[in-house]
Amino acid sequence: MINARIVATGSYLPGEPVSNDDLVARGVDTSDAWITERTGIRFRHLTPASQSASDLALNASLAALEAGGLRPADVDLVIVATSTPDYIFPSTAALLQAKLGIANGSAAFDVQAVCSGFIYGLTIAEKFIRSGSHKRALVVGAEVFSRILDWTDRGTCVLFGDGAGAVVLEASDTPGILASALHADGSYHGILSVAGGIASGQVTGDPFLRMDGQAVFKFAVKVLGEVANEVLDAAKLQIADLDWLIPHQANARILQATAKRLGVSPDKVIMTVDRHGNTSAASIPLALDLAVRDGRVQRGQRVILEGVGGGFTWGAVLLQF
Ligand code: UT7
Repeated sequence: MINARIVATGSYLPGEPVSNDDLVARGVDTSDAWITERTGIRFRHLTPASQSASDLALNASLAALEAGGLRPADVDLVIVATSTPDYIFPSTAALLQAKLGIANGSAAFDVQAVCSGFIYGLTIAEKFIRSGSHKRALVVGAEVFSRILDWTDRGTCVLFGDGAGAVVLEASDTPGILASALHADGSYHGILSVAGGIASGQVTGDPFLRMDGQAVFKFAVKVLGEVANEVLDAAKLQIADLDWLIPHQANARILQATAKRLGVSPDKVIMTVDRHGNTSAASIPLALDLAVRDGRVQRGQRVILEGVGGGFTWGAVLLQF
């Protein structure tokens, strides 16, 4: 049986960190104390006008390829998870493929599952690799959420940031992804959305992110607990067999509540939301890369990556790193 294994990780945060006090200085009606206490967020990164999601994706991808001693041409599948693509079309993945210099006819496409997008993309890549159709996939989460924020809405604008994370997933004899699960319930579309679009040369609807924070909080903690147990059950493993839990980095309180519900010790939860805020589809590969590079996540360890986001969508991947 062909396994699909993460062989390298990379990430990228644009520009300088922007602190909570910097937001106050820019005129947002908030405070460092409120943001830190309610969310754990201390900094976020905002993309300069000269860069787009594909540029962030490129930097994260190059970091991952370098970490794996690989060249762009070694990749035969490019998947980008994003809700803030450069264009309506072509896909950010196609633009990334061209920027990587591998516009060679191999498959490239975007996945739109908001903050669960990286889990969706990784699971899709796993299926491609296990089927034998592809050998090495670049799976990227890349977001410029700063461009869909209403900077007069303090209930949302302080929460999000920009960034990108990437992994290289490869066909292997060694176990890698042990189990995965994807879910969606579109009846919750109204609690977190950007309900806008373009038509006839005009913006239609509302082009800004809107959220019912408390409804999202409750839903997120419930499904992050459920889906982590689902992948453990599928792999016939227990919480005690787990080395690391890497949830979507939305809010420190969601991460803590999820860990408590699962009975996972807080020191087994990778938390990077303080450094970059909620970067949607980029947050899980960003957190994974930071923890790999600082030596916490080691080869052979068991890790759950899990996400939840607009749609609502949610999912998890249990892997042996
Ligand atoms: O990928 C998933 C993304 N979504 C999330 O992670 C969001 C999940 N939800 C949450 O994390 C929390 O609901 C929030 C952090 C968004 C909000 O925390 P909360 O405890 O639910 O606060 P709230 O919305 O009930 O607001 C409490 C107060 C209100 O003031 P009053 O009415 O009590 O006077 C808000 O106006 O806090 C006020 N408030 C703020 N104050 C200072 C809301 N945002 C801010 C702010 N700074 N940025």
